[in-house]
Amino acid sequence: MKRPEDPTWDAVWRDPLNQEDWSYLSSVILSTLLSLLPAGLPRPLAATEMGCGSGRITLALAERMPVTAVLLDESRVAVRRLAERLGSRPVARPGSLACVVRGDVFRPPLAAGAFDLAWNAGLLEHFGPTRQEEALAQMHRVLAPGGLLVTLNPYAGCLLHTLGKAFVERFVTYPYGEETPLRTLAPAAARLGLSLSGAEFSVGFLVLFVGMWKRLALLPGLRWAGAIYRLLNGLFAAVCRRPGPERLIRRLDLVLSRLFGGYLLVTSIRKGVSHADTAHKSPR
Ligand SMILES: C[S@@+](CC[C@H](N)C(=O)[O-])C[C@H]1O[C@@H](n2cnc3c(N)ncnc32)[C@H](O)[C@@H]1O
Repeated sequence: MKRPEDPTWDAVWRDPLNQEDWSYLSSVILSTLLSLLPAGLPRPLAATEMGCGSGRITLALAERMPVTAVLLDESRVAVRRLAERLGSRPVARPGSLACVVRGDVFRPPLAAGAFDLAWNAGLLEHFGPTRQEEALAQMHRVLAPGGLLVTLNPYAGCLLHTLGKAFVERFVTYPYGEETPLRTLAPAAARLGLSLSGAEFSVGFLVLFVGMWKRLALLPGLRWAGAIYRLLNGLFAAVCRRPGPERLIRRLDLVLSRLFGGYLLVTSIRKGVSHADTAHKSPR
């Protein structure tokens, strides 16, 4: 059955604060994704991002290595913007291609076994456990044998995010809809008969200190906090474009995330490869 349209994400993607070209959060997600990609995956890498939003992370991946990407999202605004972006600035790297499709992660119009990587960030926390399992099943269905599923979602062990969100919600309606941070996806994976490739971990502790200003800008009279967000975001994103500093910040972030709980829980599964067959994959 077709789900009724939800205007939440169209509104999110219309907000100028969400229209930046790149963000520090995106670089944290990109480097996490890169650290998890097994060396043996085919090139070009057939990748799909379900709930791609701006699509910028997959597009950045496709600038780093040959990737053929199908970007999928349900929001009309996100899809229109991304189609416009691809029209005027297609992926520049030879061997890489990207297209955008409007579709539902629970019924993606994608062939079974077609992808080496199926991933998303910031999607599953908007659904209850049954829906989370259905989304995992769909991501797994579209993977070829040996393909990698990666999902990054707000982490229930991140106290700072939980407190910050509760604070904002005292004053305004949270613009990203219902959102429940996740503790783990291991039981959901186990119910589907899948095993995680390595332990789940969290990343993005430092992101909280940048993203906090974006959240504060939601409060009445605090729109100016958006300027601080833009400044810090630009600064961290620029520093992370340089490999040396990026590695340092990433290491620091991983240590702090392990100690205090990072913003995002990272879960990965390899199709047809059980945990026992893989060396424990810890983030680099
Ligand atoms: C947090 S955003 C993703 C942001 C993205 N990672 C980026 O870097 O721009 C979550 C996205 O999931 C999309 N979404 C929500 N429910 C969906 C569904 N059922 N099927 C497909 N996409 C969905 C929303 O439209 C939104 O763009």
